[in-house]
Amino acid sequence: MAKEIKTIAVMTSGGDAPGMNAAIRAAVREAIVNGVSVKGIKKGYAGLLNEEIVDMEKKDVSDIIQRGGTILGTARCPEFKEEAVQAKAAEICKKHGIDGVIVIGGDGSYRGAQALARHGINTIGVPGTIDLDISCTEYTIGFDTAVNTAMQAIDKVRDTSSSHERCSIIEVMGRNAGYIALWCGVANGAEDILIPEKYDYNEQKIINNIIANRKRGKTHHIIINAEGIGHSTSMARRIEAATGMETRATILGYMQRGGSPTCKDRFFASMMGAYAADLLCSGKSNRVVGHSHGEFTDYDIEEALSMEKGISEYQYEIARKLSL
Ligand code: ADP
Ligand code: F6P
Repeated sequence: MAKEIKTIAVMTSGGDAPGMNAAIRAAVREAIVNGVSVKGIKKGYAGLLNEEIVDMEKKDVSDIIQRGGTILGTARCPEFKEEAVQAKAAEICKKHGIDGVIVIGGDGSYRGAQALARHGINTIGVPGTIDLDISCTEYTIGFDTAVNTAMQAIDKVRDTSSSHERCSIIEVMGRNAGYIALWCGVANGAEDILIPEKYDYNEQKIINNIIANRKRGKTHHIIINAEGIGHSTSMARRIEAATGMETRATILGYMQRGGSPTCKDRFFASMMGAYAADLLCSGKSNRVVGHSHGEFTDYDIEEALSMEKGISEYQYEIARKLSL
């Protein structure tokens, strides 16, 4: 028989993402509406081990839906991979009367959630990462804000690039995934889009493309380079030497992770946070919330972690053709 759920906790873990606050707000309020008490765990698994645990009421999540970052704070906690540390964390949950935990984060954070579940603490994962690299879901909280932030920044770089007739290599985040680069590459009308899933490391092809475009009268050349490929500064030096076109690298960096979440991120985060609270309050455990074919759904964590997703061949091919 499923254990009775009286108190749950919410935490954010791994890299922060715009919309995490909306997910926290929804989880807290939905659980309270379900008659369940809520606590907030600060700074991810590190905060759990330090017992940084606070009570959360409806009013504690007022005025946060529009804010970037996470009011609970987040951290990476490498020692959480150790069995003894996981057992200690589960004991801390029990000591504080926590029956279940909602973990908002990425794949790594789900591994931690899975470990807590093994030690008798119910857990539900919510996909929060700007990288869109969680296989079980077509949507991750923060991606929409991040691509919009990056797109606007790239538009600005393009203005000055055109004025100076320069080539610009703009590096966007994404860890090992190319989703942010692909989306910005299309939305910004980039001449080249380099993503780790597809890049063949043939720089000569890029150089030939720049020279051909120059001959056709193009005044700028925008290359969107994914973080997973990196080395934008040295790439810029080599391209300038080979083409004679002044080339600059811009690494957008952490600005992509901040800022007020878009409407889409607030909406999805609200639905996913509430969905997670409903699962946990009804006694479910070891599951991850996802969005697939227009519906919110959930998967066993192990199943979710074994799924694979990649860049759509069709989308990549269209992106390539449109950039010619
Ligand atoms: P994300 O959750 O965004 O993928 P990380 O991979 O950095 O980010 O993971 C966040 C945290 O989750 C880690 O700092 C660690 O505390 C925990 N974690 C990651 N991998 C594991 C694992 N294999 N077992 C237990 N906990 C893990
Ligand atoms: O996962 C989000 C992300 O911003 C990635 O795009 C990037 O590779 C990584 O986090 C950077 O992490 P950190 O905050 O540890 O530098």
